[in-house]
Amino acid sequence: MSKPVPPPDTARRRAEELRADLRDADERYHQKDDPHLSDFEYDQLKDELVTLEDRWPELRTPDSPTQAVGFRASSLFAPVVHREPMLSLEKVNSRDDFLAWRKSMADFDAGADFAPRFTVEPKVDGVAVELVYERGRLKVASTRGDGTTGEDITANVARVAGVPHALSMPSAPDVFEVRGEVYVTKADFLEWNERLLAEGGETKANPRNFAAGSLKQKDPEETARRPLRLLVYGLGVANWASSAPASWHEARERLRALAFPVVPDELFTLADDENAAAAAVASLEARRDDLAFEIDGAVIKVDQYDLQRRLGARSRSPRWAVAYKFPPREGRTVVRAIEVSVGRTGALTPVAVVEPLPLGGVTITNISLHNRQEVERLDLRVGDTVMIVRAGDVIPHVTKVLHELRTGDPPKLAWPEHCPVCGATVDAPADEPLSYCTNLACPSQVKGRLFHFGSRRAMDIEGLGEKLIAQLVETKGVADPAALYRLTAAELVELERMGEKSAATLLEQIEASKRRPLARFLNALGIPNVGESTARDLARHFGTFARVRAATVEQLLEVPEVGDVTATSVRLFFDEERNVRVLDAMLAAGVDPLPEEAAKTDGVFAGKTVVFTGNLETMTRDEAEEIVRKLGGKASGSVSKKTSLVVAGPGAGSKLEKARELKVAVADEAEFRRMARI
Ligand code: IVH
Repeated sequence: MSKPVPPPDTARRRAEELRADLRDADERYHQKDDPHLSDFEYDQLKDELVTLEDRWPELRTPDSPTQAVGFRASSLFAPVVHREPMLSLEKVNSRDDFLAWRKSMADFDAGADFAPRFTVEPKVDGVAVELVYERGRLKVASTRGDGTTGEDITANVARVAGVPHALSMPSAPDVFEVRGEVYVTKADFLEWNERLLAEGGETKANPRNFAAGSLKQKDPEETARRPLRLLVYGLGVANWASSAPASWHEARERLRALAFPVVPDELFTLADDENAAAAAVASLEARRDDLAFEIDGAVIKVDQYDLQRRLGARSRSPRWAVAYKFPPREGRTVVRAIEVSVGRTGALTPVAVVEPLPLGGVTITNISLHNRQEVERLDLRVGDTVMIVRAGDVIPHVTKVLHELRTGDPPKLAWPEHCPVCGATVDAPADEPLSYCTNLACPSQVKGRLFHFGSRRAMDIEGLGEKLIAQLVETKGVADPAALYRLTAAELVELERMGEKSAATLLEQIEASKRRPLARFLNALGIPNVGESTARDLARHFGTFARVRAATVEQLLEVPEVGDVTATSVRLFFDEERNVRVLDAMLAAGVDPLPEEAAKTDGVFAGKTVVFTGNLETMTRDEAEEIVRKLGGKASGSVSKKTSLVVAGPGAGSKLEKARELKVAVADEAEFRRMARI
């Protein structure tokens, strides 16, 4: 092989010049709204740079305008006619429907050689797009539209991460169309919605709407900021220059080799028959909540292209593919009442009580509305029809009020001036969106604190549920956690649904809670600004409860993760007279948190931060994080430059990508076990 020829200085200088000119043109065009080049002149400069970069690839800098920008916004949203219509899919809702669909194929093709295999993959809940490459370069990207005509979104799609701008093929075909879904991960969606909320902007109902809105931006630079991703699920007209693939699964491999993002292997199945396909669908459904992105079903396709051709299409959908829909997580219901509830911190939270709505396996009756401003923003009134989404691990929330269905003029929610539970004054700090009941003895606050105290990640008192707590507070005068340790079997059996046996079990549980690790105990106390992670930091730093309790603000500030607000808050909590009494009573009753083992400074993870993402197969996430902590490390939920290691299992998504971007070490579960010597 001949050695590559280095670029002459003239080429290098010209490339630099072109890059600067194109950047300047982009800035004037997008930011200053003052273009000084015509589209034609701009394209000429860009073509020249592309030619130089193709000839001497080392001239192609990562920030070259040929890589990121260059698709201009001027043609955005112009109509684009698809060379081949973008069809939709027939839907089935159950295994039986799916098997019936498979059987019906015989009506079209009863040939003896008709033996379809099936591919099964997630039905990604995003926005369908088509990308047209002409002579190897991305030319047009469009939405599906009505299937025949979509909208030009080239400038925006060109800025979606992972979208190749050119095909790396030795001789590029004249036309090569790929189709896929632009989507955002659940985590990115939540993060962005929070940001939009904080900035006072309008939040989006679900990841799909967020993706659609992001593709509809008039300024492509705004689209570039959004965390959009692409998954390619098929082809349109594809004149493969070399031999064409014979099946979808082969085409997928070829697309992957061309740098297109395709459905990851662990979510893609090539099934020999319909039963294996149905099993793959069931497995996808079981993993739905663990996936990094939202899916609304599975897509099953006949794999062999010759059989696809034989089956053909109806007017709107092909006969060779079907969408197996999972139960929706979005629905509509009517608001019966808007109540204001009081939590353990005293925060007043508006709650919509709705006509029961089954959604993704649970029946929804109450939906938190977060705060007073949210009710105002939504302009929600009793009797309104609302859209509700319950997506994966996201709690249900009202995404839209259908104001056009409102009848009459129901009154706006009157925000209470007194606590709706105990009647105490409500305090509304000027710098916070929340208002608070000021009475620490408010029964609602008491119940909330007890519930938190006994919860799994705190003192872990099994059986101490909301109903039992309500009875203890209302009939037995239990007003703080210390009172739990004074309960007797005789008192407990007087409660509803409480036999001698369950009373004895509960007392055993309460007894066992006296010896929980210090970190859990500190979390259980519900000290303002001290969550699980800070509780752990405090426990590790001070070792025993007596030392935490006695720590001065200065000493608290020595804990690496503790700042002024938390330190002051901890000190105030332990100085508060009522808390002193409750804590002393607990200690007198025998509560004796296990001292925290000093972190191993010589453990393999000493001083390291480890992030787990995706599914773990041999242990739970909690167990894995505990191992890291025992070996001196810190477990964290998000990847940053400070992360030392990311342990990625199947289904890993954005965190894994971020780790790769930041060049953070990545290991799988087996490697992690080897490191931890377990
Ligand atoms: S295949 C002939 N595969 O679902 C259409 N579609 O209802 C072939 N979708 O418009 C489509 N994930 O936007 C296919 N893995 C997947 C998909 C998928 C999502 C969307 C796509 C399509 C719609 C059909």
